[in-house]
Amino acid sequence: MKEIVLLCLLALCRAKPYEPINIMSFLKHHDIMLQDDAAEDDDDDDGNFLFPSMSAPPHDESCPFGCQCSLRVIQCSDLGLKSVPKNIPKDALMIDLQNNKITEIKENDFKDLKNLYALFLVNNKISKIHPKAFRHMNKLQLLYLSYNLLTQIPANLPQNILELRVHDNKISKVQKDAFRGMRALHVLEMSANPLANSGIELGAFDGMSTFYLRIAEAKITAIPKDLPPTLTELHLDYNKIGKVELEDLYRYKNLLRLGLGFNQIKFVENGSFASIPNIREIHLDNNKLRSVPAGLDTLKYLQVVYLHVNSIGSVGPDDFCPAERSVKKSPYVGISLFANPLKYWEVQPATFRCVVGRRGVQLGNFRRRK
Ligand SMILES: *[C@@H]1O[C@H](CO)[C@@H](O)[C@H](O)[C@H]1NC(C)=O
Repeated sequence: MKEIVLLCLLALCRAKPYEPINIMSFLKHHDIMLQDDAAEDDDDDDGNFLFPSMSAPPHDESCPFGCQCSLRVIQCSDLGLKSVPKNIPKDALMIDLQNNKITEIKENDFKDLKNLYALFLVNNKISKIHPKAFRHMNKLQLLYLSYNLLTQIPANLPQNILELRVHDNKISKVQKDAFRGMRALHVLEMSANPLANSGIELGAFDGMSTFYLRIAEAKITAIPKDLPPTLTELHLDYNKIGKVELEDLYRYKNLLRLGLGFNQIKFVENGSFASIPNIREIHLDNNKLRSVPAGLDTLKYLQVVYLHVNSIGSVGPDDFCPAERSVKKSPYVGISLFANPLKYWEVQPATFRCVVGRRGVQLGNFRRRK
């Protein structure tokens, strides 16, 4: 189930400007969750637990005014609400409060919602969350707080959250133990916050086993060294990173994908990639590299490397592929080098001997200039 949640949510990560989350399609993706819950609770919801009476008008006296309550899903988006509505049914599984004008989450706003699985508070004006607001939410797995006015990671987050989104807030500091006890947190999206390296306190991520972390569009000037060592995906695109140094990736031995596009990287120290031997995909496009980073040839599983829009003036025959063919376990499927000051006709064809597919290499400016 975790894989399913991860996969369908990773797709959502790409959406940059605020786009409403479609709760109904979300629900369909999460049907396993609902079934799990039905089985576990032994409710007398009969037979078809999913969408049995979607078309029937909801008739539930405990549904907050203006909201729609159906199948324990409470939809209160786009209502101009200035605060969390009262009398949310206690057995709610999902609450959608997207796109309102809520400014504050108070101590008892979500009191007694012990079964809550997902809480969407995206695109409000929340600057304050009471430290006890999420108490007893032991089943909460998805908490979306993006597009609000938070200045720090809310205190005392529920411990079983799988996915936390705080994209586009005003967070400039991640305090020590900000995520204390949150061992299940697999996806953390905190891009588009004014966060610099100095704002990440030592021990901020202690004890976490996060797989996916994105801190893009921030003020990061170097790859932070204190992130969870379990990461398989790290995305730091649209920051101000100037170089990659030997010890920068040392801690992240499980990385499969590394996103460093749209930074100001001039230089990747030889040996930096030696600590991420399983890496599949590296994005270094839109930087200031003058040469292909050393060591790509040693990465047996590397399949995709973006180097377009840099200042690379030449490419050597062994920059990508190992001298011995047998060393490479997975051939490249994508190498992009366009928009570099390269004399493409001088690149030896053998340079790409470990690439498969006709479109495996993008060399020239395939986009027509205007
Ligand atoms: C990078 O380091 C390796 C191992 O020390 C060495 O064999 C290789 O020649 C170096 N590459 C460059 C471009 O300096």
